[in-house]
Amino acid sequence: MLNVVIFGPPGSGKGTQSEGIIEKFNLAHISTGDLLRAEISGHTQLGTIAKSFIDKGELVPDETIIGMIDNKIEALVGNKGVIFDGFPRTVAQAKALDELLADYKSKVSVMVNLEVPKEELVTRLLKRGETSGRSDDNMETIEKRISVYESQTKPVIDFYKEKEVYKSIEGVGSIEDIFGSISEAIESVQ
Ligand code: C5P
Ligand code: MG
Repeated sequence: MLNVVIFGPPGSGKGTQSEGIIEKFNLAHISTGDLLRAEISGHTQLGTIAKSFIDKGELVPDETIIGMIDNKIEALVGNKGVIFDGFPRTVAQAKALDELLADYKSKVSVMVNLEVPKEELVTRLLKRGETSGRSDDNMETIEKRISVYESQTKPVIDFYKEKEVYKSIEGVGSIEDIFGSISEAIESVQ
């Protein structure tokens, strides 16, 4: 399987770029953020728990997220591959993903890190907030999300560097140019 982790801070373009990548490489898409938002819309028990964290800009606990991914992966084995968008968000989640994939004799093929400076992230998130209906539409939640990224999510980079599947991508520029760089990174491991 071709398993891609698309990584980067909130507002770095993971969701936008995933749309093109799934088509080009014929991958299944797992966005934990989308899954959580669907649980919230469906007023499920998981949705209620998730909402309390998301509204504060915090991370939903690892066990909850890992359980959600476990359910999804099972259904996707046999596919050409998967793009993981917004997951793993912690080193514990990255380790769990390795173990889940190992059960299917598979692993993460490449991790692409979209690098975008903080000022640009804030601009993008405020703009998205005008229409998205998401809770990260104000400076307080945005600042919180970025600081959670710095402290809890960024260490995931070193995890994948050690596994030698890490690729850094310049995340500022036209959507097409960034798409081109991500495509090259994925092609280099195929
Ligand atoms: O991935 P996305 O940016 O869409 O996630 C939106 C929110 O969902 C995050 O700010 C976080 O509160 C929650 N989330 C999480 N753990 C993940 C993915 C998303 O807690 N692995
Ligand atoms: Mg997203």
